[in-house]
Amino acid sequence: MAFSNLLLFPILSHPILTLTLTPLLLILLTLLYRISPLHPLSHIPSPITPRLTSLYLTYHAWRGTECRAIHALHRTHGPILRTGPNSIDISSGHALHGIYVANGGFAKPAFYANFDIDGHRSIFSETDPTQRAPRAKAVVALFSTASLRQGSGVIGEVIDHFVRRLLAEKAKAKGKGRRVNLLDLTRGLAVDVVSSYLLGRRYGGLDGPAPTASDEKRHGKYEHGPDEPHMSASGMVDSFVAVGRFWYLPTWAFTWAERLDATIHPPLAAAHTSMAVVDDFVARCVQDAAAAVEAQTESPTAPSKDGGGTGTFPARLLQAGISADETRAQCKDLIFAGTDSTGMNMAVIMWQLARHPACYAAVKRELAATSSPVDAQSLPYLRGVVREGLRLSMANPSRLPRVVPPGGWEFDGLHMPAGTVVSCTPYELHLDGSVWAEPEAFRPERWVGATVTEEMGRDWIPFGLGTRQCIARNLAMVELCEATRAVVRSGVLDGARVVEERIEILEWFNSKVVGERVELVWD
Ligand code: HEM
Repeated sequence: MAFSNLLLFPILSHPILTLTLTPLLLILLTLLYRISPLHPLSHIPSPITPRLTSLYLTYHAWRGTECRAIHALHRTHGPILRTGPNSIDISSGHALHGIYVANGGFAKPAFYANFDIDGHRSIFSETDPTQRAPRAKAVVALFSTASLRQGSGVIGEVIDHFVRRLLAEKAKAKGKGRRVNLLDLTRGLAVDVVSSYLLGRRYGGLDGPAPTASDEKRHGKYEHGPDEPHMSASGMVDSFVAVGRFWYLPTWAFTWAERLDATIHPPLAAAHTSMAVVDDFVARCVQDAAAAVEAQTESPTAPSKDGGGTGTFPARLLQAGISADETRAQCKDLIFAGTDSTGMNMAVIMWQLARHPACYAAVKRELAATSSPVDAQSLPYLRGVVREGLRLSMANPSRLPRVVPPGGWEFDGLHMPAGTVVSCTPYELHLDGSVWAEPEAFRPERWVGATVTEEMGRDWIPFGLGTRQCIARNLAMVELCEATRAVVRSGVLDGARVVEERIEILEWFNSKVVGERVELVWD
């Protein structure tokens, strides 16, 4: 009798032993296969833990240390790294075209579904291009340069309001050592731009942090941070940001992890209140849109009654046959995406200008030398400030994963089979010392004139790349450049000092600023 039969016979003849030991044996065989030369990714360098289990990435994502952990592994194992049994990260801009651009780019992996909203796939979380296409097609015109030029008045009004709020906060804080939380104000700016320009109604994020009295009554007192209330959409935004902790898990495990976490750390009343405030707001926007679409169907030549009419984001989706329920979910996603990333980037840009008085003075000189009213994006130094802010903010620092399609993919002489999850990571590319001299330094001048290299243009990916890059990239650039110009012109940063020398983040898909504060003081 062979040795294996001697070993297995007593086990298999006993049903309880069979039931308990068979899964263990299967797990053991799977682990052995993953580290063996038989595995199709055995030729990709990596230490043993990520080869054995995807829990390595899951653990670092949960702790918010994913980018630093992967960076340390790249330093030891080289630019092409196995980050899990079935996943690879490439810290070279040469890989970008193949993964994200060629032939429409590779598809997003299934775990993007963990970002679904209220049971609906969003334009962001959809992995099936045929489902995404009609939705994106319905709204994409809103993000064109021509549309943005038409909407510049609406965006400009919000920016003016933002600067007035900043000046008022400065007046209250100046000389008193009182800290002003920029992140709260920039989130207010961002939510008001997205809502006014895309949803046809201004949310009111800049009007004050407290929600309405009736909402307080319904959901308990609003209390976000230890010191003061935050902007009313912030609780909802922070809840969505927190999805990034568990997002690599399969959906069933994600659901359990979220439930368990909610039991151990019950959400603050503030989070419920914020969700309810945003839900109410979105419901009103979609109602407006439905009424405008209905009115136009009944009387096609009549002008729209409100500012938004049938051209808003929700009205366009409804006209494309998307249900009202899904349209509400898509609008919520827009509020989240638009508030979080733009808010964080604007706060970082102002924080960097306060930290670098020479750069602040250089923008002032550029503005003083520009007499005719021009588009802020055409000012080279100011645009450099915004680009450096986006490079260093790490608002979306971690990998942008994609699935290798049938037929596999060759890169740098290495074969990766179909189904492998491959990625490039903004954190890696934005801090690559071979592309950026002194990569950690804020240097807007590197973007001006002859110092701009082809590699810089290629590896700067704050908005992702290819067909699934940020749909609102143009809107975000207009908002950041115009707001930076208005802030510098107003002189609000004169005499400002940063409170902390670093902005600590948890490296989730949308990074979380530790303490949710980016602060300035005025002497
Ligand atoms: C500075 C601001 C912003 C940054 C840095 C940013 C970053 C990104 C990135 C990196 C992606 C690609 C994600 C991936 O490949 O998985 C993305 C996608 C997306 N963003 Fe943004 N974003 C910003 C502003 C906005 C705004 C203002 C909105 C909405 C008004 C928005 C809506 C979206 C949507 C809907 C997608 C999904 C596109 C698709 O998959 O087809 N983003 N964004």
